[in-house]
Amino acid sequence: MKYSQDQVHQLMRSTHTLLGHNEFNEKAWMAHLVGVLEFHEYRYYVLHEPLISDSEYDKLYHGLKKLESAFPGQALPNSPTQRVSKDLTDSFDTVRHTVPMLSLDNSYDLGDLQEFDRKLRELAQVQRVEYAVEPKLDGSSIALVYENDKLVRAATRGDGEQGEDVTANVMTISSVPLVAAFSALGIQKVELRGEIVIARKVFAAINAEREVNGEKSLANPRNASAGGLRVKDPREARRRGLDALIYQIGYAVDKTGADLLHTLFTQHSNNMLALAKLGFKVPRDQSKVCMGIEEVHAFIAAWETRREVYEYETDGMVIKANDRQVQDQAGFTAHHPRWAIAYKFKAKQATTTLLEVEFQVGRTGAITPVAKVRPTELAGVTISSISLHNEDIIRQKDLMLGDAVLIERAGDVIPYVVKSMAELRDGTQRPIVFPRQCPACGSHTKRLEGEAALRCDNPTCPAQMEERIIHFVSKDGMDIEGLGRDIVKRFYALGLISGLGDIYSLDLRSIGQLEGWGARSVERLAQGIEESKTRGPERLLYALGIRHVGATTARTLMQAVGHVLDLQNMDMDALTALPDIGPKVAKSIVEFFGNKANTELIAYLGSKGVVLEKQAQSGQSNALQGKKFLFTGTLVKMGRTEAERLVEAHGGAVLGGVSKNLDYLVAGEKAGSKLDKARGIASIRIITEDEFLQMIAAG
Ligand code: IVH
Repeated sequence: MKYSQDQVHQLMRSTHTLLGHNEFNEKAWMAHLVGVLEFHEYRYYVLHEPLISDSEYDKLYHGLKKLESAFPGQALPNSPTQRVSKDLTDSFDTVRHTVPMLSLDNSYDLGDLQEFDRKLRELAQVQRVEYAVEPKLDGSSIALVYENDKLVRAATRGDGEQGEDVTANVMTISSVPLVAAFSALGIQKVELRGEIVIARKVFAAINAEREVNGEKSLANPRNASAGGLRVKDPREARRRGLDALIYQIGYAVDKTGADLLHTLFTQHSNNMLALAKLGFKVPRDQSKVCMGIEEVHAFIAAWETRREVYEYETDGMVIKANDRQVQDQAGFTAHHPRWAIAYKFKAKQATTTLLEVEFQVGRTGAITPVAKVRPTELAGVTISSISLHNEDIIRQKDLMLGDAVLIERAGDVIPYVVKSMAELRDGTQRPIVFPRQCPACGSHTKRLEGEAALRCDNPTCPAQMEERIIHFVSKDGMDIEGLGRDIVKRFYALGLISGLGDIYSLDLRSIGQLEGWGARSVERLAQGIEESKTRGPERLLYALGIRHVGATTARTLMQAVGHVLDLQNMDMDALTALPDIGPKVAKSIVEFFGNKANTELIAYLGSKGVVLEKQAQSGQSNALQGKKFLFTGTLVKMGRTEAERLVEAHGGAVLGGVSKNLDYLVAGEKAGSKLDKARGIASIRIITEDEFLQMIAAG
C-alpha cells in the first residue's frame, strides 16, 4: 500500500475540507488539491477502490483547473492536469493509436447544449444541425484494429496517444467479432472505438459469486470492466463477463491506403448500422437522430427516466453531429471534437458523514432509524436525512456514528446508504444503539418474531397518534387543505388536536388567535375540513391507517360492503374470500373493527357529516347491495370485465372463487368446474346472465 493509514486519514480530512469549499480561490490550496487528487487517482486507477464518487473527483479536479488558470504557468509538475498518462501500468505493452483517441467536452443543462449548438452552427455555417444522440456508456474505452478482416489489436485509451495492448483479454469477449467482413466494403484496415462494459445483471451475479467465495465485492460495473480488461489471465478476463459496444469509427483505409472515412462513412447513424450488420454490438436501439438541439434535449429528458432500466450503466448521453461534412467543418481541439459533446446526468452518488441516528415512531408503532448526515448535494437535491429502515440493515451495512458513508439516489427514488467506509475509521466512531424504550412515550420496545421492525406497542403513544393524524389528513387520505404535516404538529403540541375525531370539532376561534393565523387562513382551513367530509368511504378507510390496509385493499373492502361499519360483520373467512386479501391483512381488519374505540370513532365521524356510505352515482344503484357474485362460462351480452363493473356499480362485489360467502354464481355458456362446485353449496344461487340483468333492472 502506497499510503499509510495515517496518510489515508489525513488525506480524507483534506478531501472533505476541500469538498466543503465552493471557491478554491487561494494559491495555497493548489498543492493541497494536487496531493488529494493524486491520492484519489491512485485509489481509482491502481487499486480500483475509490473512496469518493466520480462527480466528487470531478469537482476537485475542476477546482484545481480553475485555480491553475488563475495562476498561469504555475501548475505543479505532479498536478493531474499536467499528466498525460492516466492509466498506464507496466504490465502490458504500450502501443500507439492509429489516430489519437480524444475525449469529449461536457455539458450539464439545456443552456450548455444550446451554446454548443450555436457554436457548431456558426463553425459549419448551417441553419440547423442533425444530431445522433446515444447513451454514454460507463465503462472503459477501447480501440479495436481490424486488418484484412481480422482483429489484430485491442488497446485501452491510455493517454489518448498510446494505450495498453489488451488484445488477449479482449479476444475473450464474445461480443467482439474476431473476424468481420470489412473487405466486402473495400476496407483493408479499420480502427473502431467503443466501450468495454459489464451488464448490470452480470455484475450483480459476479458480486454474488465473489461473496460466496469470500472475495471482496466490486464497487460498480465500470470499475469491474476496467479491472477485467487488465487482469493478467485471459481466462479470468472471460469470467468477468465483459461486453463491448462500438460507438465510433476512428480510421478506415482501402488497400491502397486511401482514406475511406470521408467517402464511405459519411453519416454516423449509417456507420452504426453498417457496423451492426458486420456483427458488432452498437447502442442503436437506444439512439436517435434528432433535428435541432431542442429535440435532442427532449430525447435526453425522456431517456434519463429510463436510465435505470437500461442493461448497462450510463453516466450521460453523447450528442454527435450526424454528418461528416459538419464534423469536418467543425474540427477538433487538442482535447475533444467540436462536433460532439457529452451531456452528464446528475450525480447519483456522493460521500458524506453519518452524524446521528434518530429513531422515529411511525403511525403503526414501528420505530425507524433515520440517519442524519452532513448535508450533501445528490442528483440535484440536498440530502440531510436518510431512512435506514431497520436494525438488520444497519448491521448488514456495518454502520457506525461518525462513519464516512457512500450514499446513492437512483432516478427519482429516495436516497439510501450504500455502505460505510470502515477503513476510514479513526477510533472516534461509536456503535448505533437501539432504544429499549420508545423515544416518544417510554414504553418498552419489542421486536416481534419474524419482523424486522422494532415497535412501540402502546396504542396511546403520542408519537403514533401524531403520525396517524398526519396520515389521515394527507393527500391520499382525506386530503384536508390547510392542514399539512407541520400544522398538525403544531396543533398536536398545543392540544388542539389529540385524536382523529378532534379534526371535525376544531375550535376555529382559538386557532384564529394563534400567531400567523388570520381570518383568511382559518376560513381556508374550515373549508378544507368541510370538503374532506365528502371524500367517500374508500378514502376514509385508507385514511384511518389500519395496518396493512393500503389504497388498493381499501377499494377491495369497499366493493364488498356499502357502509364502512359493515366491515364489523366480516369475519376472517369473509375477508380472505375477497381478492388479494390474505390472513395477515384480514386479521388486522378484524382486530381494528373488533376494537370499540375504533368503531365509535367512525360513528362519531359520521355524526359530524363524514360520508361513511357508498353513494349511488348516475348509472348506479344499490340493487345488488352487499351481494357477492362470481361469473363463469361465456357471457353473451357483455364481456367479463363489463359484467364485473356492473356488479360494483350497483353495490355488489365480485369474488375470486366459489366459497360459502358467494351469493350468486352467474353461469354463462359452457360453464365448468365452478358451476359443479357451486351446486354443492346450498346457499349459492345459480342464475343466468339474463336473470342477472333483470336483478339490476329491478333495482
Ligand atoms: S464518442 C471523438 N460515444 O466517453 C468522440 N464516447 O468522455 C469520442 N463514451 O473516452 C467519444 N459512450 O470512452 C463516444 N456513445 C459514446 C460513448 C463514449 C461512452 C466514453 C468514451 C470517451 C469518453 C469521453
